[in-house]
Amino acid sequence: MAENLTILHNATKEEKYKSLIPQIRGLLLGEENLIANLANIAAVLKEGMDFFWVGFYLVVAEVELILGPFQGLPACTRIKKGKGVCGTAWQKEETIIVPNVDEFPGHISCSGASKSEIVLPIKKDDKVIGVLDVDSDKLNDFDKFDQKYLGQILDLLP
Ligand code: SME
Repeated sequence: MAENLTILHNATKEEKYKSLIPQIRGLLLGEENLIANLANIAAVLKEGMDFFWVGFYLVVAEVELILGPFQGLPACTRIKKGKGVCGTAWQKEETIIVPNVDEFPGHISCSGASKSEIVLPIKKDDKVIGVLDVDSDKLNDFDKFDQKYLGQILDLLP
């Protein structure tokens, strides 16, 4: 089946999210497989939002995160609980917005070009099963709108 993606190039961030969310809903429809769904979400967000890096880290054995589907440059494969922005978002079970990665104690740098970051925990049955991590090559690139719309996208996961 061919999958199409409509991208609004000259639009605000909010307009882009609002256009992509129904398209993601369509892509996820009838598909229960987590990896397939995360892979499509990463692809839509990378292309549709023009993010520098977007991907998922998944909880393994309660102690660490392992790299899941992503789009962008190669990244670190394992992150311990409580480490870096991803491991901290998992431990605290809350979204973390980092305006300047150099000012986040313990930030794990996978690319020197990454300047700001947002990480949202993904919960299933009240348990964190992984995180969504989005990196930007610009400082202060994420805000409450990203938190809101990325959260809505994660809520689409079956
Ligand atoms: N910066 C993250 C590591 C993952 S990369 O950004 C892709 C962190 O501190 O957890």
